[in-house]
Amino acid sequence: MQTLTLTQPDDWHLHLRDGAALQAVLPHTVRQFSRAIIMPNLKPPVRSVADAAAYRDRILAAIPAGKRFEPLMTLYLTDNTDPAEIIAAKASQFVKAVKYYPAGATTNSDFGVTDIRKCDRVFEAMQQVNMPLLLHGEVTDKAVDIFDREQVFIEKHLIPLKQRFPHLRIVLEHITTSDAVEFVLGNNNIAATITPQHLLFNRNILFKGGIRPHFYCLPILKHEAHRRAILQAATSGNAKFFLGTDSAPHGRNSKETSCGCAGCFSALHAMELYAEAFETVDAIDKLEAFASFYGPDFYQLPRNTEKITLTKTTWRIPDEVPFAESGLVPLRAGEEMTWQMA
Ligand code: DOR
Ligand code: ZN
Repeated sequence: MQTLTLTQPDDWHLHLRDGAALQAVLPHTVRQFSRAIIMPNLKPPVRSVADAAAYRDRILAAIPAGKRFEPLMTLYLTDNTDPAEIIAAKASQFVKAVKYYPAGATTNSDFGVTDIRKCDRVFEAMQQVNMPLLLHGEVTDKAVDIFDREQVFIEKHLIPLKQRFPHLRIVLEHITTSDAVEFVLGNNNIAATITPQHLLFNRNILFKGGIRPHFYCLPILKHEAHRRAILQAATSGNAKFFLGTDSAPHGRNSKETSCGCAGCFSALHAMELYAEAFETVDAIDKLEAFASFYGPDFYQLPRNTEKITLTKTTWRIPDEVPFAESGLVPLRAGEEMTWQMA
């Protein structure tokens, strides 16, 4: 039987939610990953070190008995974030990054930044104390086409930001376009996370045989040419590109409705999905570094030492897994996978 043994991976972009939802999804991540960068877009968001400490305690309390997992916390940047909070975050040791959401860009982003220049004093502090900035890199301008929001963000906001703060360490999260790949390759102090859905699917899947809400996430899936560009980046062996699932659970009720939420749930089978994507371009040998080495290297944390094993075998992704008020539909529910984590 074909098996693949890898250093235990980490997830550098994860939504765990809170309460019953947290209880339901955390065990899936703990099974696959040793650490994860925890997104702060709760209601209300995680804006202070005190919020992050309390959320971290709730996550630690939800880890299944006998398992080990380290949540790496983030703060949610707002127009009013105080540079002093950045200093406190650095001192805390458990806050590892600050997340920028443009106001209104996505789920729970109402508290997000209305104009990125309003945060320059905060970026100054972050640059000084070596605190990474995680970007949801999309503009929210209603006049900009939804498929162009990443490119326009790069042109309008990221290029000027890099000029103002050349030493600020940035992760362009969940990249979806060749433009993002080129920008990351052409600049220092910037890396990118890549999700399984953006490696495996182009935008056609959203309308295959009808409207398919479980493939709707933000940034939205793009044209095949972009998918190929990010797949090439992920499998290139370049340390600037690493794993971040953006697993973003929403109950079936909030996805299968007249105005469904954005987010794909992939924590159940993330490593299997990445393995399939890498295999399509004969690059399974590049998976370990993407999943387990380049992320900790960027975050200046030690690499994990434990191992995981994936086995070549066929299994069917469940239609639904238990969640909060309604069930949770995993990415590619009901379809067959060809790798399975032990
Ligand atoms: O699809 C998404 N879902 N994109 C985001 O940026 C947020 C996330 C969520 O929290 O549901
Ligand atoms: Zn996200």
